[in-house]
Amino acid sequence: MHAVFLFLSAAAAVASVSGALIPQHTRRADVCNGHAELCGRSYGNVTFMGAHDSFAFSENPLDLAADQRVDIPSQLGLGVRLLQAQSHMNDGVLHFCHTSCELFDGGSVEDYLKTVHDFLTANPKEVLTLIFTNPEGVSLKDVWDPAFQASGIADLAFVPPSIPVKQSDWPTLGDMIDSGKRVVVFLDTGADDDRSVPYILPEFPMIWETPFSVTDENFPCSVDRINGPLSTEDHMYMINHSLNKDIFGLGIIVSDPLDADDTNSVASIMANAGGCQGFAAGRAPNFVLLDFVNIGNGLDAVNQLNGL
Ligand SMILES: *[C@@H]1O[C@H](CO)[C@@H](O)[C@H](O)[C@H]1NC(C)=O
Ligand SMILES: *[C@@H]1O[C@H](CO)[C@@H](O)[C@H](O)[C@H]1NC(C)=O
Repeated sequence: MHAVFLFLSAAAAVASVSGALIPQHTRRADVCNGHAELCGRSYGNVTFMGAHDSFAFSENPLDLAADQRVDIPSQLGLGVRLLQAQSHMNDGVLHFCHTSCELFDGGSVEDYLKTVHDFLTANPKEVLTLIFTNPEGVSLKDVWDPAFQASGIADLAFVPPSIPVKQSDWPTLGDMIDSGKRVVVFLDTGADDDRSVPYILPEFPMIWETPFSVTDENFPCSVDRINGPLSTEDHMYMINHSLNKDIFGLGIIVSDPLDADDTNSVASIMANAGGCQGFAAGRAPNFVLLDFVNIGNGLDAVNQLNGL
């Protein structure tokens, strides 16, 4: 017994000197999404910063259809770990467009996903969430899946053992990183009944959202979109923390870059999160979805919500 123990400790010592001796599957992630503290935390118990309309970036302040100023690699560099985007078909190809492809065309979904895949390859210890909308009910199997496959992201996508997953039942970030399945893909519509692409998960049975197109800077909290058999508390949740202005008083609302400094301040985000915790057994939001992520202090707020 004793000899075996000595042998094992000697082997462990050798292994730790030469990393190559440790088989890949026993290697444990030591830093997850930038923090050692997050490795042991369940995915359902982490707050992630999100970029609303991530593809709709433009440096031009007159481009009213742009909800971001900086490109996808820059958003990820700022700490964004949820990318949200809205899809539309354009000439038979799936694109990300804002309202319509004439108004703002962010290019093909496949190209977008390749950009995201480059980040994931360069950053192997990051868990990333994608929440896409599918307003035209485009086929998962014939259109979405090929784009994910071609980009390489399909191989990294997490498939839960069953659906819906309760907030408390998600694996830890460390487990997701160790297994290589560290991208979580949600679609707002289309994935509830059609389960032909197992890694494309239906959003609302697992995540509820606060109302969107908010024009009240106090962001009063309520449960807006939700679905499925799980209770509200057993869902994760997202605060849609982007302020809109009804510019012409005609009900035409656009995102509001002028107030982004205040909207994306720690105080405003913490107040919004605080107003929602009563719906979530006191838990912080899982996703803080922001316009203009390069403005304000979104990451500071998210780190605070994570207790970091
Ligand atoms: C994670 O759990 C801690 C402790 O219960 C809680 O304070 C925090 O709000 C939770 N965060 C999320 C996103 O669930
Ligand atoms: C968030 O709000 C915007 C408008 O402010 C809306 O377009 C969007 O659908 C909402 N939800 C998500 C998941 O982006």
